[in-house]
Amino acid sequence: MHQFRYRQGILHCEEVSLQALVEEHGTPLYVYSAQTFRDNYQQLHTALKGLDHRIAYAVKANSNLSVLGLLAELGSGFDIVSGGELFRVIKAGGDPKLCSFAGVGKTAEEIRYALEQGIHCFNVESIAELEFINEVAEGVGATAPIAVRINPNVDAKTHRYISTGKAENKFGIDHEDAHEVYERAASLPRIQIKGVQMHIGSQLTSVNPFVEAVERVVPLVAQLKAAHDIEFFSIGGGIGIVYNDALASGQRDWWDRHDDPPLSPVTYAKKLVPLLQPLDLTILLEPGRYMAGNAGVLLTTCLYEKKGHAKTFKVVDAGMNDLIRPALYQGHHEIVPVREDEAGTRVTADVVGPICESGDFFCQDREIADFQANDIIALMSAGAYSFTMASNYNSRPMPPEILVEGAQARIARHRQSWDDLIAPEP
Ligand code: LLP
Repeated sequence: MHQFRYRQGILHCEEVSLQALVEEHGTPLYVYSAQTFRDNYQQLHTALKGLDHRIAYAVKANSNLSVLGLLAELGSGFDIVSGGELFRVIKAGGDPKLCSFAGVGKTAEEIRYALEQGIHCFNVESIAELEFINEVAEGVGATAPIAVRINPNVDAKTHRYISTGKAENKFGIDHEDAHEVYERAASLPRIQIKGVQMHIGSQLTSVNPFVEAVERVVPLVAQLKAAHDIEFFSIGGGIGIVYNDALASGQRDWWDRHDDPPLSPVTYAKKLVPLLQPLDLTILLEPGRYMAGNAGVLLTTCLYEKKGHAKTFKVVDAGMNDLIRPALYQGHHEIVPVREDEAGTRVTADVVGPICESGDFFCQDREIADFQANDIIALMSAGAYSFTMASNYNSRPMPPEILVEGAQARIARHRQSWDDLIAPEP
């Protein structure tokens, strides 16, 4: 469920008109709903009641300080993958003691910083990294809390770029090698074993791969718990969201009729809690997209319509530098006009940006509203992996971000200027 709805014919975020926001801030423009973040957090939290658990929001999905701040207020922990993300969490008021540091390539500087800040744990991805963390910890006179990431070799049945739990992926340690790696960890003086971690992929729309992975890893976790002092098991992130949000196809009440999206927190919890409970450990979850995906939209203005011999193109002022998901993963984002009366006439077209690449599109050969120059449209479900993957390609300034709370809208990030673009260059 999200908080983007037509009210009196204009698309709103909570109680704020998106048309009014565009009049004030221009386009391209990211807009987030605070209530949607809160609802998503609470729904997952509630579904898991009965299980000793903690949510560690995956910062990479949306790392705006205002977003991190509101999650910190809810008591969320954070799954981080760089020193920069840890820095953001701390600046936003998040607790470093609730941060897990993941990723296959942590540097000495990042490890030192994380140790100084007293993070919850490092999720270790190789023996070489384990030994390096031990060495860095030794250098600063600290002990490093760790979990080893286990690769369960399960097919997450998602896009191959965001599938991480197969043996051929670069992530984690093969299930068969786990005991050996934990023995090695136990022998290192500056390493303190705290937990076990796994993450099989992102945008999973069925609970079955999660069940398969948990079933495969739980016996190992139980053995590791008996052998070492393990406090937690992190089952990673990956809960998928609905991208083909039928707001776009005229079924305005879709969300009201589907309390249960394909993979709801309730389904997820119903299947996984009974498998996890017997471990008697704290269970960590690292949702990113589930929390942020449907909480944001990218607003863009149509600049031109271009009718070619083969196709009709709608050229808009946002590009793949602002939202790269369609280009990189064939990601689907619904495209809806901010003024509902423009949704009536349909046309089959490509929506493209101004970037000098043929991959710069938001949809191809899709039936969409026949919007025209100066009309404002919303790219839906752009709260996760959207702004965080934006770049300055083609020397385009990054768009601003607005956080809406009820009837209030505040700037969560200013639009970059051309001066900002060149500021770091002497
Ligand atoms: N934990 C770990 C170790 C991860 O690698 C990830 C995501 C997450 C948690 C959060 O996964 P989520 O709950 O968001 O599915 N840019 C891609 C997604 C990349 C996901 C990377 N890892 C996209 O736009 O689809």
